[in-house]
Amino acid sequence: MLVFFDVITLNTWLEDQIKSGSSVGFVPTMGALHAGHVSLIDASTSNNDITVCSIFVNPTQFNDPADLAKYPRTYEADCSLLIAGKCDVLFYPAIHEIYPGNIPEVQVDLGGLDTVLEGAHRHGHFKGVVQVVHRLLDIVKPNRLYMGQKDFQQFTIIEYMIKVLKLPVELVVCPIARESHGLAMSSRNERLSNAGRKQAREIFAVLSKSTALRNTLNPEQIVRTLFSDLNHDPFKPEYVEIVDRYTLQPIDLWQDEGTQVICAAVWLEGVRLIDNIIV
Ligand code: PAJ
Repeated sequence: MLVFFDVITLNTWLEDQIKSGSSVGFVPTMGALHAGHVSLIDASTSNNDITVCSIFVNPTQFNDPADLAKYPRTYEADCSLLIAGKCDVLFYPAIHEIYPGNIPEVQVDLGGLDTVLEGAHRHGHFKGVVQVVHRLLDIVKPNRLYMGQKDFQQFTIIEYMIKVLKLPVELVVCPIARESHGLAMSSRNERLSNAGRKQAREIFAVLSKSTALRNTLNPEQIVRTLFSDLNHDPFKPEYVEIVDRYTLQPIDLWQDEGTQVICAAVWLEGVRLIDNIIV
């Protein structure tokens, strides 16, 4: 695997590859890689000649400086996973490569997509995500961009940005990689105790009940049921919502199957876990 630290060297190398007709798949990450990230690398390597992964802990998307400070940095282990996953290129830039100070911030009116769900609890978060993903796309210029369903609102916003700015890239969304008992894989799971990691399985189990309840309850009743199912020690649910999968607005009535998503954020042992299921 080649590792690039600066934009100019990466650009020069990529330009040669693109000139010789290679397709490029891109997987942006913040490192602390796990099997969920690797599933995106796999999806990219099976459809592109070259797979580029970036590791950049983006300061502009953290609304809590403490969260940024304790974000895990596991470069060696990340490289091993990427090499095993047959990733061709790692882009590992310093902050000044991404934000050199002379590039205007991209302006996209997200039409309210960024103020609901996660956006209501993490102010400015999605503005930072849009900024960094736009900059990374501008640097890598991939044919395909790979993102996870795990961060439902994130990929929905990036999909919207690609559409309104007419960016020449195809977004590929990969399903949530889960541990064997259903817990969505996340670098935050590492911060849970062994007991907490077992308890955390309950989040997916509770959300999964919505599929069966759908025949008898309306969305609002299900939201109330699931919230109260999760509202006990050691959990502290922040929100449970059923929203239209494109507008992210809460729904009152069931729509066609596959067009709504149930999303939750739950605190456990001081760790904020998110999960979702398309229903
Ligand atoms: P990060 O949290 O490192 O996630 C990188 C990508 O991996 C995202 O697209 C995320 O949805 C996906 N991912 C995480 N856990 C997953 C799982 N269990 N199954 C499938 N995919 C999973 O998301 C970010 O970084 C940043 O916000 C970023 C987009 C890189 C911008 O800074």
